[in-house]
Amino acid sequence: MKIAVVGTGYVGLVTGTCLAETGNNVICVDINEQKVQKMRAGEVPIYEPGLDILFHRNIEQGRLSFTTNLAEAIEDAKIIFLALPTPPGGDGSADLSYVLGAAKDIARLVRNYKVIVTKSTVPVGTADKVRAVFDEHLDINKGGEVDVVSNPEFLREGVAVEDFMKPDRVVVGTSSDKARKLMEELYGPYVRSGNPIIFMDERSSELTKYAANSFLATKITFMNEIANLCELVGADVDMVRRGIGADARIGKRFLFPGVGYGGSCFPKDVQALEKSASEYQYDFKILQSVMEVNEKQKVVIVEKLRKYYNDDLKGKKFALWGLAFKPETDDIREAPSLYIIDALVEAGAQIVAYDPEAIENVKKLKGDVIDYSSDPYEALNGADALIIVTEWPLFRTPDFDRIGSLLKARVIFDGRNLYDLQKMIDCGFYYNSIGRKIIGT
Ligand code: UDX
Repeated sequence: MKIAVVGTGYVGLVTGTCLAETGNNVICVDINEQKVQKMRAGEVPIYEPGLDILFHRNIEQGRLSFTTNLAEAIEDAKIIFLALPTPPGGDGSADLSYVLGAAKDIARLVRNYKVIVTKSTVPVGTADKVRAVFDEHLDINKGGEVDVVSNPEFLREGVAVEDFMKPDRVVVGTSSDKARKLMEELYGPYVRSGNPIIFMDERSSELTKYAANSFLATKITFMNEIANLCELVGADVDMVRRGIGADARIGKRFLFPGVGYGGSCFPKDVQALEKSASEYQYDFKILQSVMEVNEKQKVVIVEKLRKYYNDDLKGKKFALWGLAFKPETDDIREAPSLYIIDALVEAGAQIVAYDPEAIENVKKLKGDVIDYSSDPYEALNGADALIIVTEWPLFRTPDFDRIGSLLKARVIFDGRNLYDLQKMIDCGFYYNSIGRKIIGT
């Protein structure tokens, strides 16, 4: 099938590449000329494991191409995906100007039947708004005809390719049989194992995405609060997590406490759902609490540091391991590390940060407010303590002797509970993690 993908961010690029992989002919369009040039030259603009292999293969085999020309991209396309940003506007609701702007441009160009798919995370009712744009600008006398479909993505950064190729489910919101058949055909190869394509109306589909992310954000936040309580009552959150996770109704996954959720989806989606609810005069209390608790959780490590250093962080030097909002990505959007950096710098501390992928992105944002190191151990040199913010696999089994000898004091603050408590006792560290006993003094 011939497909156009408008927008080549994380979602658009993964979608376009993975759709080409099953034999579709995909043209990705982006207004950023420089980016398109680079992709044409074979450069993958983001770090996403496994994406480069598919990207190069499909370009070489002529199924994946890039352009800045919207008319050229959509001319032969049967299905057009809108994978454009929906950033939070000033009032917290999603800004639809990119999506609706693209819809208007496309509407003026369409000369036959096409399915328009909103892939971006958009508030309930957006499909109707997109349809209204087409109703206004489509030239039916020249053969223009469209169906608007909602098809949210559930891609986790770091495993996005796998999530696209083998989805737990595909959600498609449409009231058109014709569009339904095309979407069924398109996604068929991805659900061979029997996972469902769940068809529903557009509004339910749009809400499904927000409900899924908000539920997951709530699950994490609940565990973060349990962890904070564990510290007060002397319980171990790791035990509590295993104890409750064994109940199939709760499930083992997404129960890991930490430094708060971040990324480009959860914070934005929780905020947007709460805002949408309030527009319908619904007071979505649980989401308000989730946001409030997460704000505090992002700097829980800073509070721990303040307590340890008697509220005097001035002149202290900290090694910070992990800047990305989670492992296997260079994405730092809403990353807890940024909030921790701000709070520590404000308190007069010095930071040397290491991350396997995200340093360049942080440099663009924070410049030389902090120092960076290209080696995790080098970052430790002469630091008062090590702070762990992202659970990159490489941090899981470090050389503790080396850490101990490089640090000024054997002190670790771990926002991701990476180490075994007994191991920390054996290695003679002061070790302060989330929701567990503090080791050492
Ligand atoms: C998320 C959703 O999982 C995906 O379905 C959606 O389409 C996009 O948003 P992503 O933002 O890539 O994906 O990250 P995810 O792996 O879900 O993690 C989100 C945040 O939660 C991260 O900050 C992560 O560190 C945190 N988290 C996750 C925890 O703190 N504890 C956990 O147990 C799991």
